[in-house]
Amino acid sequence: MKIINVVGARPNFMKIGPIVRAMNRYSQIEPVLVHTGQHYDEKMSKLFFEDLELPEPDIYLNVGSATHAQQTAKIMIEFEQVVEKERPDMVLVVGDVNSTAACSMVSAKMGVKIVHVEAGLRSFDRRMPEEINRIVTDALSDYLFVTEQSGIDNLKNEGVDESKIHFTGNVMIDSLIHFLEKAKNSGIRDRLKVNGHPYALVTLHRPSNVDVRENLTRLLDAFKLVEKDLKIVFPVHPRTRKMMKQFELDSVIDSMSGLILTDPIGYLDFMNLMQNATVVLTDSGGIQEETTYLGIPCVTMRENTERPVTVDVGTNILVGTNTDLVVENARKVIDGNWKKGRIPELWDGKAAERIVAVLAREA
Ligand code: UD1
Repeated sequence: MKIINVVGARPNFMKIGPIVRAMNRYSQIEPVLVHTGQHYDEKMSKLFFEDLELPEPDIYLNVGSATHAQQTAKIMIEFEQVVEKERPDMVLVVGDVNSTAACSMVSAKMGVKIVHVEAGLRSFDRRMPEEINRIVTDALSDYLFVTEQSGIDNLKNEGVDESKIHFTGNVMIDSLIHFLEKAKNSGIRDRLKVNGHPYALVTLHRPSNVDVRENLTRLLDAFKLVEKDLKIVFPVHPRTRKMMKQFELDSVIDSMSGLILTDPIGYLDFMNLMQNATVVLTDSGGIQEETTYLGIPCVTMRENTERPVTVDVGTNILVGTNTDLVVENARKVIDGNWKKGRIPELWDGKAAERIVAVLAREA
């Protein structure tokens, strides 16, 4: 059984690693790794392949950055040729990036079965490009592997046949568990001179936060206040770097002496920074889950989340772009006043094994 595994952007790489490893244990499965090239910078892609010990992609599509329509269309044109040539039995996609939806649409029209890992998540906010990608991909998928109960509920409400839905846990947490020990030795805190110092770890890249001047300014104002109490480590996404320049906010950044800005950093270094942070301030989807697993307080700078288990069970709260709420909550953490959180059901490092066991039954 030939299965094409698709990756495109940074948050895909840590999800595909455990799946490829699990597939390699089945002689009846022939995995083919396709990288669309949605993310292409060394620090957004190659570094992750190295850290995550991923095999070189069998096929690289080199699509690069563009508008949503252009990028999605380019991926579809290239991927159609791949499916034509490879004739896979299944195409497996992860997460919610443009590559996920584009490859699903191609596969559906070519009659190839689609496997969606991380299905059913909904923010119910269609201004998010990822929400559109999630809805499209789930509507077309034949196997829907879900990370949390809300995913099952959402899919059932949308009329997805129950026989297609499998609650298998979280493959991103599989990667985290697999690399946790290795990440402890990354040495990044020495390199950034924060070893032994309390610090907040910040990530910011959602278009709604960084492409809107007032929102980005409000959040930088919040960091300015948090920085009075804690050092801040902020690896900057290329989109955010571009927008800070465009909005001429570099001077605000320069005025913060406790702020350590870095280029995007690799998987192991980032896990190390997360494990040792006092608090994480983020607008990422995956980081809400990783902090919940690690029991690290997480303040999410968004109005909604497609991963409600991180709020209901985990260590996460939502604060939007409200400067006061960001600062207030960071102070709460410093005062030791934060919920404890639990690890959600089936986030045990074995999600990929369960997923591949289901697929292997079809071989
Ligand atoms: C994409 C995903 C988002 C995910 C994020 C993680 C979609 C719709 N969005 O958003 O869900 O959370 O990745 O990083 O798929 N750029 C570079 N180098 C790169 C890649 C991008 O410089 O290797 C720059 C380009 O200027 C590009 C911009 O970053 O225009 C945005 O990249 P893009 O892939 O369009 O979206 P992300 O914001 O990265």
